[in-house]
Amino acid sequence: MSNLGQPEGARISSDAVQRVRDYHQRTKHMPGRYAPAPWELDWANQPDPFRRFAGTSVLNLPLITDDATPPYDQLFHSGEAGRTLTPESLGLFLELSLGLTAWKEIQGTRWALRSNPSSGNLHPTEGYVVVPSLRRPFNNPGVYHYAPREHGLEQRCVLSEAAWNALAEGWSEGTFLAGFTSVHWREAWKYGERSYRYCQHDVGHALGALFFAAAALGWRVVILSNLSDAQVAGLLGLDRATDFNGAEAENPEVIAAVVTEPAAALPHTIGKDALAGVRSGVWAGTANQLSPASVKWDAIATVVEATVKPSTASVPLPALAKTGPIPPREFIGGPSAAAIIRQRRSAVAMDGRTGLQSQAFFRMLQRTLPYQPHPPWTAIDFPARILLSLFVHRIEGLPPGHYVLVRDETRLETFRSACNDQFAWVHVIESGLPLYALALGDCREAATNASCFQAIAGDSAFSLGMVADFGRTLDEDGPWAYRRLFWEAGLIGQVLYLEAEAAGVRSTGMGCYFDDQVHQLLGLSDHSWQSLYHFTVGGAVDDVRLATHSAYAHLSRSEPS
Ligand SMILES: Cc1cc2nc3c(=O)[nH]c(=O)nc-3n(C[C@H](O)[C@H](O)[C@H](O)COP(=O)(O)O)c2cc1C
Repeated sequence: MSNLGQPEGARISSDAVQRVRDYHQRTKHMPGRYAPAPWELDWANQPDPFRRFAGTSVLNLPLITDDATPPYDQLFHSGEAGRTLTPESLGLFLELSLGLTAWKEIQGTRWALRSNPSSGNLHPTEGYVVVPSLRRPFNNPGVYHYAPREHGLEQRCVLSEAAWNALAEGWSEGTFLAGFTSVHWREAWKYGERSYRYCQHDVGHALGALFFAAAALGWRVVILSNLSDAQVAGLLGLDRATDFNGAEAENPEVIAAVVTEPAAALPHTIGKDALAGVRSGVWAGTANQLSPASVKWDAIATVVEATVKPSTASVPLPALAKTGPIPPREFIGGPSAAAIIRQRRSAVAMDGRTGLQSQAFFRMLQRTLPYQPHPPWTAIDFPARILLSLFVHRIEGLPPGHYVLVRDETRLETFRSACNDQFAWVHVIESGLPLYALALGDCREAATNASCFQAIAGDSAFSLGMVADFGRTLDEDGPWAYRRLFWEAGLIGQVLYLEAEAAGVRSTGMGCYFDDQVHQLLGLSDHSWQSLYHFTVGGAVDDVRLATHSAYAHLSRSEPS
């Protein structure tokens, strides 16, 4: 057995792996038996979607409307010249990854949409940056919390130059950190036990949003997945109990390094004295309470404890492909990367008519393949463990049916032998992809039924389940890798969200699906492979009752403050 990604110097706890398996099993939706969740929504305790830290200085980031980002398709083609790290470029980066994209309104109720999607629009993911000294008023190196409504940085910690240098040991100039945390309660308020899964999906989407925003600025990103949760918590101040007194906790998720100098080497960790330096910084701020009262879900507490990440050794991955198998679409004059990112929305209904050309479909799938020389895959330092089980409804030139995209071809035979032995496994050679037809026929009803009866799964051009190499990942990489599987699913989802917009259609992530029904459709009989996420892509029908307002009309600024 390989030991890829195993905890450094520690053995994987089979007890913790079992607790993860138990959590996964008990949070499966089944027709007539959904995972435990509140009977009704407790509106008086609806969590505030915006975390703020009282007592911090808030530095307004500039709002850049004329973004000058390259055409979206160019992100897959060649590297952009990197922008210098300034308050303007940092502001655009955060807006395109975590900022607001619009406000929606109906009958006096308003809610914000963001560059990153979120299950139920509840946004459990909080974003942080740890940056060097920039020009005034951003002249303190430090740890900052991003406040998307204000498009501002809350200064949580001012670092001395010595502490910054200890953190950034060996990094090129202009390199900084971006980190994510999860407030589990925000999702649990609505979705109960299953919501821990959605928090992890959302981290994956936020990572994807971050990687594409960086690419649009010519920046490169690499996840620092050797770091333990304890290190992430220390760097972002999550373990400062008095700062969260009475407020809902933030759980550490992941930190990535963002490199702004084009030719610089990518860092793979932080300086050895980094944490001590950050802890000795000047901290400020206390977290706001998001709900008057919150409910503790024991199943979530158990899986949180079982999936705590230790520091891990880096994982040897296959080399990146030199080029993708499909040439990019003509991108001259195409919409800018920023335009595609800002227009991204989830479809709430599909028209049941719109299809896609097979070339467009193949291109979308190609961009979900791992180890490719373009975002988001260049930023990942973990192996691909998810394949796509596709329900093709309306793809011109491709008969409707059940297909599979085997993203890691080395697992083809293992997966095949786990599936229904009646499947045809006909290679779709013209796709140039590891795409196989399992069974032809109309699967709109099967897709809808398996997706908790959501019509968007059958009324689309295609929908899919993301099936994870589940047992192997937990056994080989440890229980924390349960989270990583959802991050990978979220990343694939973020690619599909942007690809759908670029192809003139729309998509939606679906956390609601009947797990074992998906497994039955594939003929999977044990828990080795598990479906972790659904997605649908097609022609959207807008809800005309909703009014749309611009993202930042409530702020009257466009220039640096
Ligand atoms: C992890 C995840 C699960 C989701 N599950 C569903 C779902 O089951 N059904 C659905 O209609 N939308 C689902 N959505 C879409 C969200 O409702 C949507 O992202 C949110 O309302 C914000 O809207 P936006 O994506 O247009 O920004 C999901 C999104 C995510 C990220």
